[in-house]
Amino acid sequence: MSSTPRPTVYIETYGCQMNVADSELMYGSLAAHGYDAVEAPDGADVILVNTCAIRDHAEQRVIGRLGELRRFMKADSIVGVTGCMAQRLGPKLLEKARHVSLVVGPDGYRALPQLIDNARNGERGIFTTFDLEEHYEDVTPRRTDPVKAWIPVQRGCDYRCTYCIVPHTRGAERSRQLHEVVREVRQVVETGTSEIVLLGQTVNSYNDGTNDFADLLRAVGSIDGVRRLRYTSPHPNDFSDRVIAAHAEVAAACEHVHLPMQSGSTRVLKRMLRRYSREEFLECVDRLRAAIPSLVLTTDIIVGFPGESDEDFEETLTAVTAAGFSEAFTFKFSPRPGTPATRMPPEEMIADDVAGERLQRLIQVVRAQSREQNIALLGARTEVLLERVAKDGELLMGRTRDWKTVLVPGHASLVNSYHMVELTGTTGSTFTGTFVQESAPSRQPLPMAS
Ligand code: SAH
Ligand code: SF4
Ligand code: F3S
Repeated sequence: MSSTPRPTVYIETYGCQMNVADSELMYGSLAAHGYDAVEAPDGADVILVNTCAIRDHAEQRVIGRLGELRRFMKADSIVGVTGCMAQRLGPKLLEKARHVSLVVGPDGYRALPQLIDNARNGERGIFTTFDLEEHYEDVTPRRTDPVKAWIPVQRGCDYRCTYCIVPHTRGAERSRQLHEVVREVRQVVETGTSEIVLLGQTVNSYNDGTNDFADLLRAVGSIDGVRRLRYTSPHPNDFSDRVIAAHAEVAAACEHVHLPMQSGSTRVLKRMLRRYSREEFLECVDRLRAAIPSLVLTTDIIVGFPGESDEDFEETLTAVTAAGFSEAFTFKFSPRPGTPATRMPPEEMIADDVAGERLQRLIQVVRAQSREQNIALLGARTEVLLERVAKDGELLMGRTRDWKTVLVPGHASLVNSYHMVELTGTTGSTFTGTFVQESAPSRQPLPMAS
């Protein structure tokens, strides 16, 4: 019996976890319209590039990649650009890349099947309208990670940090209804996934009209089968006492918070419109640490923001130490067209070599600090969830509740199981460990290193 083969779709994802979750939604939606997912672009009927616009470098990578993808196209392949860069550049992308036939922003994925059909008929299409109601509730995402599930609980952003393109690419903030989030998490845990990561640009400002983020944490944390609960990224100003108390009391909520600081200088923070001072940020850190013993904090930091003086930068270095960050994602300021930071006086722009030096110094300070913290943890026994086979193929990569990476010898069949592991070595940033004969305490706080 012969039948027409189903068309195939390949999606390449750049940017943050929100984009990873959106790609899962697009795959799910297209599967419902008769498409099969494939793992490589070669000869796929539809090739989508889900893009990020956060820094110029991220966009340049995509432009380069779009050119490369040409050689994987069949005569009738459709290439589309989705995500934040699609939203930002719209028609300019169609002008720039003749082989691209659709450009779809983050609120337009519902239109994808139709736009692809149109493209097959030779019609190039753009969809970049924001839709404040859009949460894709009726779409079942196609998940490929058996271990953890990314669950968007909020889309868009209502902050207006002066360097940031996200409000332009993702529109206004809106939250999903709590019962919809709970429904999705219940479905996910039924498949054997026990780690849930709630996503939003300022995820702790979640509010569905009735419930706030504290309610959400409690609701998701009490679902049977949710053993690890994480969220990213919270904003310091949205850490109300209620939210902190909920995090502290919900047993599944892990002892790790990724808390973007951006700068340690009040002067720079003001110009970034972050809406907190250095002192207020550190106060937030203190409140979190007081409520959640053994909390590990990681952060995002930008160097070379317009007007950043040597003194401002020194304040960032001292804040890294004062906050006790275990890891930091560090970036050189990248001017994004249309954002307020690009309109600051030209003489305030920081030369690239100065920003580069600051970045290197910052990385050194962060590395030294995490190395010191990690060496102090050697010998500790801790619960590890094994996530995947490590790159070399011999070891398994797992994570502790507090987000440390641990490599353990073991068979691939152990992926997605919990084990007690003794931390035996560290590179300074990641650990090696061995299994110890102790069943993992399922919902207990971890013993600290003695
Ligand atoms: N919503 C999150 C951040 C999302 S963007 C939050 O507010 O915490 C991820 C990180 O990229 C930011 O935390 C910031 O450190 C960095 N970033 C954003 N815009 C940038 C720019 N124009 N130049 C350099 N880094 C930037
Ligand atoms: Fe960008 Fe600020 Fe919104 Fe984060 S909170 S997405 S940095 S505008
Ligand atoms: Fe990039 Fe958009 Fe995420 S700009 S960081 S993919 S929200």
